[in-house]
Amino acid sequence: MFVQNRDPSKNSRTLLSKVAILTACVLGAWVSSAQTVATPPKTETPKTELSLRQLADARGFLIGGAISATVLDPDSPEYSETVAKEYNVVVTENAMKWAPINNAPGQFNFTLADLMLKYADAHKQVLRGHTLVWHEQLPRYVGEITDKAALLAAIKEHVQGVVTQYKGRIKMWDVVNETISDGPGNPLRENSPFVKIIGPEFIEMAFRWAHEADPDAKLYYNDYNTEGLNGKSDAVYELVKGLLAKGVSIHGVGFQTHVDMNFSVETSKMRENLERFRKLGLAVQLTEVDVQLKGDAPKAEKLQQQAKVYSDLLTTCLAVKCEAFLVWGVTDQFSWRSSFKPLLFDEDYLPKPAYFALRDVLLGTPK
Ligand code: G3I
Repeated sequence: MFVQNRDPSKNSRTLLSKVAILTACVLGAWVSSAQTVATPPKTETPKTELSLRQLADARGFLIGGAISATVLDPDSPEYSETVAKEYNVVVTENAMKWAPINNAPGQFNFTLADLMLKYADAHKQVLRGHTLVWHEQLPRYVGEITDKAALLAAIKEHVQGVVTQYKGRIKMWDVVNETISDGPGNPLRENSPFVKIIGPEFIEMAFRWAHEADPDAKLYYNDYNTEGLNGKSDAVYELVKGLLAKGVSIHGVGFQTHVDMNFSVETSKMRENLERFRKLGLAVQLTEVDVQLKGDAPKAEKLQQQAKVYSDLLTTCLAVKCEAFLVWGVTDQFSWRSSFKPLLFDEDYLPKPAYFALRDVLLGTPK
């Protein structure tokens, strides 16, 4: 009730203003209740928008890839942003190889590798060490050594210098890379100075020295064309079985998986192959995955086929409880096989069908 005013015009103004206030209140209440209804409740990101990294984190799985120094380049922010968003594990594509890091006897240059590790730490990513003993990207001084004891000493100095530098910070290393040849019978490769001058024992010693330098680091043998059941994977199997029998600290095998869009997980018997290594008690990782486009089919068709291969590879990896799925790069633009467009992101950093295929696998496969 309101008090009657002697001035009727005032009364009607008062009445009008009260009606206005009431209307405003009712309207306000309606608007605010409408807002409550219209504002979606705070929810998590819809599953279909989660990044590969978020999906992998949720299941305690490592997904990532090789990165170059471009990750530090302020003029290429898309590169760094993509890596930070999508990968929870990274590998330096070249920065930790023998020549870039230890180009002269006893002289180590950790500058670039340190910066890349700092990037990984800042983004809470695991950094996987690649690679200690490989017949490629060697400094000239190593190629000039002709004496067995001197070459073994060089391996020890290199392996222990690098592993000690990153003790406790790099928790997994490719210790020996690609030492089985592709030739008939798959012997140790002859174009390796380590094989030629030292013989098989360099493999065992490299693992022992790496273990001595950081007993907590996980140590891997890494090779290509070994994904399926074949002569080369048989040779790797015998090699690592022999190392285990001698009590050498080897924890896992990396299967590089540089394949093309015609690769078949099924016909290559990839799952059976990975399973036999798991039965030895070893961890397995797909370490350098890329899937090249091939042939004359329309591009869209080829991209779908590529996506199918990526999907099959990740499905197989998860089925054998592999530790990690690593792609060899980020964007097709900088791939070592860029003309075959083998990666998950195109030249403009747009995700390709292969990217969505991996996401579907992570979403659809129970832990
Ligand atoms: O850094 C130098 C630069 O200073 C020089 O001007 C330029 C001129 O060629 O070369 C640059 O080095 C190149 C390096 O990549 C960095 O871009 C080397 O020539 C080139 O040979 C090297 O290629 C790398 C290759 O390993 C070495 O054999 C690829 O980027 C790298 O993706 C590739 O990675 C290997 C894995 O480590 C092991 N498995 C196979 C895989 C593919 O080959």
